[in-house]
Amino acid sequence: MNNLYAVIGNPIKHSKSPQIHHAFAQQEKITIEYQRILADEDKFTQCVNEFVAHGGLGLNVTVPFKIDAFQQCQQLNDYARAAGAVNTISFDKSIGWIGANTDGIGLLTDLKNNLHLQLNNKNILILGAGGATRGILLPLLEENPHRILISNRTVSKADDLAEAFKASGNIQSCGFNEITPEAFDLIINATSASLSNDVPPINDNVVGAETICYDLAYSDTPTAFINWSNKLNAKKSIDGLGMLIEQAAESYYIWRGFRPDTTPVFNLLRPSS
Ligand code: ATR
Repeated sequence: MNNLYAVIGNPIKHSKSPQIHHAFAQQEKITIEYQRILADEDKFTQCVNEFVAHGGLGLNVTVPFKIDAFQQCQQLNDYARAAGAVNTISFDKSIGWIGANTDGIGLLTDLKNNLHLQLNNKNILILGAGGATRGILLPLLEENPHRILISNRTVSKADDLAEAFKASGNIQSCGFNEITPEAFDLIINATSASLSNDVPPINDNVVGAETICYDLAYSDTPTAFINWSNKLNAKKSIDGLGMLIEQAAESYYIWRGFRPDTTPVFNLLRPSS
């Protein structure tokens, strides 16, 4: 099959990636086949090998396989190495699997190009210390923020991440009840609490009139974190749909060398905004 791409995960049926990548291909004026692959937890490698045997050119990887993908790639880019996770694989006959991570770049592109937010010298609070946080730390630190404070329910995980990235910038860690009482410029919710409609238990005083609140999760209805920040009159409250589309655009660029215009795709997926 020509121009075969896919996203692999479990679950996968709600993935918006096929819609996004088909819209990008329309812009490039080509036809692609972009599939959803539902893989059993222990069948990741087998499914990827079958995909390559069918002529697959590029693969997006989502939960729960990003770390498996990282471990199996023969070559990794810097962001994948820093993230310890791969969300984009290209296949090369001589090199093998080439892994990239476009999640962090997707967030940065949404913040900078779409929301016109500069991070230089800004005070950033990140809630959560799991894979999502690890994936965004390097590109965020490359913007030279004043400081990044990682706060997590399990404090030791926040401490470990701050230690791992301390060479790249001013990064600190604490528990939810130890966050410095000040209005942050940017608060990123990288916990999976939104999935269970929870908000991390943090003090309201971290949100001021100039605070931007960004939930890495997205939903057709506002997430619990977005409702919380709206209630506190944050300057802007944004969910992760823009990041999703921008990380997809970066993957598309890696595979095809064509940089899609993301604005029409955002309007397609969220027509009311
Ligand atoms: P992901 O890859 O989405 O980051 P993960 O690695 O499992 O998933 O990490 C989930 C993160 O959300 C963790 O920081 C987790 O906190 P713990 O490290 O203490 O487990 C956080 N999290 C999940 N549910 C939460 C909740 N209800 N309140 C606060 N934090 C929560």
